[in-house]
Amino acid sequence: MKPSFTGAVIMAPMTKGSNLPYRRLCDELGATITMGEMALARKLQKQSRPEFALLRRAPSEKVFGVQLAGRQAEEMAWAAALAVERGADLVDINCGCPIDDMVRRGIGSALLQKPRRIAEMVTAMKKAVGEVPVTVKIRLGFTDDDLNYLEVARAAEDAGADALTVHGRTRTARYRRDASWTAIGEVVQAVKIPVIGNGDVLFPHEAEEKKAIAGCAGVMIARGALIKPWIFREITEGRYLDLTAEERLAIYERYVALGREHFGADERGTTRLRGFLVWHFGFWCRYVPRHADGSYPRMQEREELFAARSELEALLARNDEAAHAYLADCLLEGRRPDSPPPVPSDLIVERSEVPEG
Ligand SMILES: Cc1cc2nc3c(=O)[nH]c(=O)nc-3n(C[C@H](O)[C@H](O)[C@H](O)COP(=O)(O)O)c2cc1C
Repeated sequence: MKPSFTGAVIMAPMTKGSNLPYRRLCDELGATITMGEMALARKLQKQSRPEFALLRRAPSEKVFGVQLAGRQAEEMAWAAALAVERGADLVDINCGCPIDDMVRRGIGSALLQKPRRIAEMVTAMKKAVGEVPVTVKIRLGFTDDDLNYLEVARAAEDAGADALTVHGRTRTARYRRDASWTAIGEVVQAVKIPVIGNGDVLFPHEAEEKKAIAGCAGVMIARGALIKPWIFREITEGRYLDLTAEERLAIYERYVALGREHFGADERGTTRLRGFLVWHFGFWCRYVPRHADGSYPRMQEREELFAARSELEALLARNDEAAHAYLADCLLEGRRPDSPPPVPSDLIVERSEVPEG
């Protein structure tokens, strides 16, 4: 389907996190666009099978975007044409990946230092894919001393980009500081194409507030989608949903069903799915509901210590490997998770250290 950026609630491109069954889950829960994991143009050119798998769309996905990373305009144009041939509804250029190894090779956020190169990529990719939108995902700059987001945004627009996503941080900031939605708003003012804001959305009111600050067309969600995939339903319905632990478990069961369809129900598929499940529990355990005083936990704060309202909620909040492995096995075997492994001693220490009163 042709993407609509106005009012979009987008599941972000995430290595590992945007695996196909998890995208299907987020699509079912209301994401209006689902982005795949970053695929490297160079590896696609080398016919790498795992890289080709990243271009695969689920037929049920409403709007599927492929994110490409590369260094040269020609390889990106070639890869964009391939992605579209395989069903992508949009192709996105990664100008944000902070990983040293990528940056050394001139890929990801390294491109922020070369706005002209980004423009060349957009031009070449537009030519290669015709009507299919080409979008660009940027950060505010390579370092805090080099905030060139307006220059990069204008270069992408002038070259014909159909939309921009702005993650309101620099490469060097990583996740340390809050994303700046004021800066995202400056981009909105500087260009005519739709701008998607990205950074720190965990609850529906935050999506509203941040969108209002920036005046952007839509929002993109990454960690929020990994921690609570129902965030898309919350945002599209415009209300906070306090899911019970049972309801959350049902969502995780749905992921298992989708995972089995994708990876296969044989031993090999089950082992792969188990690996993903354990990984996902590392994010799912971070969910904390609204506080008793009505305030909301913030993305940037880790809250290990909240008063769980049931044994199952306490189990789902555990962030130790034994609990994640146990929960994954229960889900795969269709068992109730009612005899969890003992809480590791370091976790007990952490919990008993809560000051009283
Ligand atoms: C596990 C994980 C993998 C990510 N992989 C990618 C990626 O492949 N491409 C990309 O542009 N951004 C990637 N990101 C960054 C997110 O898309 C997003 O820009 C960033 O996390 C800020 O959004 P958030 O505050 O909603 O998490 C990744 C983030 C996470 C947590």
